[in-house]
Amino acid sequence: MKIEFVAAGAAVPAKTAVARVVFEGATYDAALGQAVAASRFTGGKGQTLDILAPQGESAARLVLVGAGKKDGFDAIGAEKAAATAYNAVKASGLETLRIEGLDATDLAAHAALGLRLGSYRFDKYRTKEPAEKKPSIKTAQIVAADAGAAGAAYTPLAAIADGIDFTRDLVSEPPNVLYPAEFAARCKALESMGLEVEVLGEAEMMKLGMGSLLAVGQGSIRDSQLAILKWYGADDKTAQPIAFVGKGVCFDTGGISIKPAENMEDMKWDMGGAGTVAGLMHALAGRKAKVNAIGILGLVENMPDANAYRPGDVLTSMSGQTIEVINTDAEGRLVLADALWYCQDRFKPKFIVDLATLTGAVIIALGNDYAACYANNEDLAANLLAAAKAEDEGLWRMPLPEAYNKQIDSMIADMKNTGGRPGGSITAALFLQKYVNGVPWAHLDIAGTAWKKPSAVSTIPDGAVGYGVRLLSRMVQDKYEG
Ligand code: BES
Ligand code: MN
Ligand code: ZN
Repeated sequence: MKIEFVAAGAAVPAKTAVARVVFEGATYDAALGQAVAASRFTGGKGQTLDILAPQGESAARLVLVGAGKKDGFDAIGAEKAAATAYNAVKASGLETLRIEGLDATDLAAHAALGLRLGSYRFDKYRTKEPAEKKPSIKTAQIVAADAGAAGAAYTPLAAIADGIDFTRDLVSEPPNVLYPAEFAARCKALESMGLEVEVLGEAEMMKLGMGSLLAVGQGSIRDSQLAILKWYGADDKTAQPIAFVGKGVCFDTGGISIKPAENMEDMKWDMGGAGTVAGLMHALAGRKAKVNAIGILGLVENMPDANAYRPGDVLTSMSGQTIEVINTDAEGRLVLADALWYCQDRFKPKFIVDLATLTGAVIIALGNDYAACYANNEDLAANLLAAAKAEDEGLWRMPLPEAYNKQIDSMIADMKNTGGRPGGSITAALFLQKYVNGVPWAHLDIAGTAWKKPSAVSTIPDGAVGYGVRLLSRMVQDKYEG
């Protein structure tokens, strides 16, 4: 879909739906007033009223889009209203959508972002979809007071949308297509954007002593990979970088501790943390962020097999710490243990934020609208929470109680890889904490937020969310670019 900014008076093309964003308490002319009076439309958030062949209007169709109360209406509201408008007319057969009522520069730019996010669709494997089911809108026009300024304000937002698209594509891909080497290859292709991408294979990781990560992948015929994405955007290319680490389990069967069949297909998106880190790096490069940033992706497939790792195995991680495997389905923390250690050891970053679809327990605790935030550093936690709030991504701080460490004490090794059911997301975070040494670190458990089905948010189509790209890009921009 093409997105353009136009002046209020610009001629309305044929086959256009006009979406007019209105607040509660708006007043209407006689014809529209009659239409509104014949409905329950009040201008409330998310409401729409469809008016075909409206009297006295040049559009084929007019959609009133409710934006709620005028007071406190902001850029996020504009994104959602624009995406709601798109959803209302996307399959109407009309080809142009013109959005009115979001003329201020910031609102118009964010309306464009909302359209990008809300119109995302992963349809590369549909070969027989009837034309009348496909979205018909080809062009979106956003009426702006200053079209040039709105376009300029949209440019960095478009880079964020591109990053989120990249994440969503990765997360949506089926696991037979997106295995570790393919994921790494898609990252390698980002070198055309100015990123440097290094990929380590099993032999190299073996040399580094990554016995924890490698154990998870040893039951798969697909080789495990470690992808290292580097963006040197600061004026001083040698300035200390910031770092992001992602869990990239391209498919999680559970391994020998195999998962039940029901919903196992969902475990294709167990690489969502790595997907977000890749999308973030895409966004940083796209908007030429003035920062040095490292993204590290631990890419594996967790399979049951004659060569698979077993419950009872003792693994030696790159840090030297040993791990008794209790459950091969608690594999994400094993991947992150070596990826985190490698990250701090090699790059000595200012901070590390890791993202992982780590536990079912976090879904029980926080549901699908909030990710859990664990941190060993108050400033980093505050920066993450503030950015999440600004970008409308749910994030909730959780504790790292020292005393719960005894749940992961092992009789035979330095720790176990599971801590039982109580506080399952917390004990997973405590496990990770043992693999960061003094570095400011935060862990986002995004098992509940990486995928939404069904989604109740207009800017998030059902499926891959791309959670975290926005909040991390915002935090980098507000706090670490110089
Ligand atoms: N990838 C799963 C967590 C998950 C569950 C993500 C549901 C998204 C939706 C993770 O590897 C896992 O299996 N965790 C186990 C840990 C347990 C064995 C300690 C879990 O949460 O059940
Ligand atoms: Mn698992
Ligand atoms: Zn997993």
